Amino acid sequence: AFELRLARRGIRVPVPVGVSAAQALLDHGIEIALSCEQGVCGACVLPVLEGIPEHRDVFLSSAEKAANRCFTPCCSRAATPHLLIDL
Ligand code: FES
Repeated sequence: AFELRLARRGIRVPVPVGVSAAQALLDHGIEIALSCEQGVCGACVLPVLEGIPEHRDVFLSSAEKAANRCFTPCCSRAATPHLLIDL
């Protein structure tokens, strides 16, 4: 489990084990773009301001993954206790 902190809204959204980050956001009434939900299309990509994502998608390039400036909430998770995202 980890936590998403939404920089622009100033709220925190917990992401339990077994629930995607995208689903946790939707459950909190946060509208995000979703399409494939399998880490393929890139529709859901969100900017990361702080924290390290655990990238599980095949959309971002290796360089993008290494930079840790964005992640795909449909399938990726966090390697740090929280991710601060620009949302
Ligand atoms: Fe397609 Fe997340 S919805 S990569």
